[in-house]
Amino acid sequence: MNIKSYIDENKDRFLDELFGLIRIPSVSSKSENKDDMYAATGYIKKALLDAGADLAEVIPTAGHPVVYAEKMINPDLPVVMVYGHYDVQPAEPLELWSSPPFEPEMRDGKIWGRGADDDKGQFFMHVKAFEYMVKNGLPCNVKFLIEGEEEIGSPNLGEFCQANTDRLKCDIILVSDTSMIARDVPSITTGLRGLSYLEVEVTGPNRDLHSGLYGGAVANPVNMLAKMIASLTDENNRITIPGFYDDVMEASLDERNEMARAPFDIEKYKKEIDVEELVGEEGFSTMERTGMRPSLDVNGIWGGYTGEGAKTILPSKAYAKISMRLVPNQNSKKIDELFIRHFESIAPAGVKVTARVLHGGEGYVSPVDNPAYRAASRAYEETFGKKPIPVRSGGSIPIISLFEKVLGVKTILMGFGLESDAIHSPNENFPVWNFYKGIETIPLFYKYYLEEIN
Ligand code: BES
Ligand code: MN
Ligand code: MN
Repeated sequence: MNIKSYIDENKDRFLDELFGLIRIPSVSSKSENKDDMYAATGYIKKALLDAGADLAEVIPTAGHPVVYAEKMINPDLPVVMVYGHYDVQPAEPLELWSSPPFEPEMRDGKIWGRGADDDKGQFFMHVKAFEYMVKNGLPCNVKFLIEGEEEIGSPNLGEFCQANTDRLKCDIILVSDTSMIARDVPSITTGLRGLSYLEVEVTGPNRDLHSGLYGGAVANPVNMLAKMIASLTDENNRITIPGFYDDVMEASLDERNEMARAPFDIEKYKKEIDVEELVGEEGFSTMERTGMRPSLDVNGIWGGYTGEGAKTILPSKAYAKISMRLVPNQNSKKIDELFIRHFESIAPAGVKVTARVLHGGEGYVSPVDNPAYRAASRAYEETFGKKPIPVRSGGSIPIISLFEKVLGVKTILMGFGLESDAIHSPNENFPVWNFYKGIETIPLFYKYYLEEIN
């Protein structure tokens, strides 16, 4: 049976099964959801066994468990390993959702729910494509590695890989956890940014003080933190940390011209997020600012009185969570150190400053001249009717660079999400068209990958 008919015959069941997974609130950052992580892994293990895996296991780690499954049909054939993550970001603020985040529903041709795209909807396409291939001729060996800590920086997966290099032996890693330019503009992600994520703490007086009795005489840590943060970027929106750009790989003019050819709709981009002006590093386009230039953002800032009404205090403490997106050749540990040294050095008189690393990881560039890229390109071209464009994304999946380092294996990023899927935001969604299109495209990747390496 061809894949289109198979999808057509099973389309409601595919959705039911995905909905069952979305209903499990597997939020990796919350301890209250610990049991849900096990519920999710059990659900995925069963789905993989039902789809035709010979073996599927839930394996505990120091953090949340991983699901590992395989179907080895012939040791002489290559092994494709599918990686994905079943953990999701917190759904808050809940009041902004049009339907509850963990009660998935179909509306306007889209699946609505936390994880609908990132990454439950996307990795589940692989489970269903695998099911089809098992029934209609699997061309090679397949392994699945589905983790539960991607959204918190995969703190235990590197070690898991190190301890299981034999079991995870494969020729190529296949991931759907990125997006395309648009439904009618297929693209393949060829780059991911790295990340340094820190929390800073600024301490002034030993207690909150009366702001009338002390105001004007004692350094206010919230004021000071605001000044320090403001000084981290200059008037051209360049990061001022000494040495920050030292290792940044500058793109050649050719590369930049190539990049500029991607049909990126800047008006649509602005409209979707309701901003009139885009702001970033001087001298670079928006695509370049997210795809090949580093950035620095405050993710959250707090301190002092934030309750109802007014309270006249000069606070004792101020905090911020600050992240830097890094580009290939920058090293997150080195950037952590540069940041901490600089941040401590700019502490104004009268306050004490500390900074600690929360998590981080390295960026990734994937070659466009290898069999996996060519196979993915042919697969998209066949199902979308257009040759996909290589695009560097601004997002991060830190484990991808570790896969290369620890397992020595390259990754191909075949994402089927859209910018408008609102991942990490309220009202996350995944167009059902993309879900089925992914299932249709994936088996072609296997087919062409085998052709390309032979
Ligand atoms: N799937 C995303 C990353 C992504 C999305 C890459 C779209 C490219 C296009 C992933 O789940 C994610 O959110 N990663 C985090 C990593 C962090 C928590 C270590 C990110 O980028 O913030
Ligand atoms: Mn993801
Ligand atoms: Mn994510």
